[in-house]
Amino acid sequence: MYLKDKTVMITGASRGIGAALAKGMAAAGADIVLTDLEREGDALAKVAEQVRVSGREGMTIPIDVTDKSRVEAVVAEATEQMGQIDVLVNNAGVLVLSRLDELDEKTWDLHFDVNAKGILLCTNAVLPQMKARQAGRIVNIASLAGRQGIAQQGHYAATKATAITLTRVFAQELGDQGIYVNALCPGIIMTEMGQNNLQKQEDRDYWAGTTALRRLGEPEDIVGPAVFFASELSGFVTGQSLNVCGGLYFH
Ligand SMILES: NC(=O)c1ccc[n+]([C@@H]2O[C@H](COP(=O)([O-])OP(=O)(O)OC[C@H]3O[C@@H](n4cnc5c(N)ncnc54)[C@H](O)[C@@H]3O)[C@@H](O)[C@H]2O)c1
Repeated sequence: MYLKDKTVMITGASRGIGAALAKGMAAAGADIVLTDLEREGDALAKVAEQVRVSGREGMTIPIDVTDKSRVEAVVAEATEQMGQIDVLVNNAGVLVLSRLDELDEKTWDLHFDVNAKGILLCTNAVLPQMKARQAGRIVNIASLAGRQGIAQQGHYAATKATAITLTRVFAQELGDQGIYVNALCPGIIMTEMGQNNLQKQEDRDYWAGTTALRRLGEPEDIVGPAVFFASELSGFVTGQSLNVCGGLYFH
């Protein structure tokens, strides 16, 4: 129960990694503020029900992480209902495959708005209360793509490199106020995004065979590292980005 009685706000919590984090962090003792796009409301409500199975609170609230005033309103409402937000997990993300030489401007902007600006807006919205308490933890979900770039994912990889950089700089700016900022860099995780990315079984087998552990990831594989960064377990760790990839990449 490393997160006992903490309140964790998670973006993109209706499915995939975000849903696994909501359930896993509740099992570690946290109450959860589950947020996602309005159109994902039904799925979000089902994840919240699973959170409550752990005996923890599961509050749902629609958000678009690219909308500053909405983000601020969500943080205010969640804080009023739950008391405070101890941990923010910036998980919401998009990936639309395209070569860079065929990429349209709208797709570039969407990726930077959700994957990069979304982190800035959500983090800045929770910071005032964390600064007032001189305590808080931010966990950003970046990607291995941000480490090395991947063909067809240049725009996405650039946003994830931005997430890694924001993690380092926020950590430097906030460490003296008791606020920790770290990131996870998942490898290939079999969510909707991961499945869209690797549609053919032969491609999945190939990439599984490339990892040291000889398998692709499941959303639940992200829970332990997230609990580590969200809790006192990582009391002397900030500004870091941890690969969670089964041994696919080593830098
Ligand atoms: N699946 C992988 O292989 C993989 C690998 C590395 C990193 N990641 C990252 O992990 C995170 C979760 O990805 P996933 O695989 O669970 O993907 P997913 O597509 O299953 O889930 C993404 C979630 O983000 C939400 N979202 C999208 N735009 C949003 C917006 N504007 N505001 C609020 N929510 C929004 C979606 O509704 C969805 O619930 C993402 O940041 C992704 O880039 C995934």
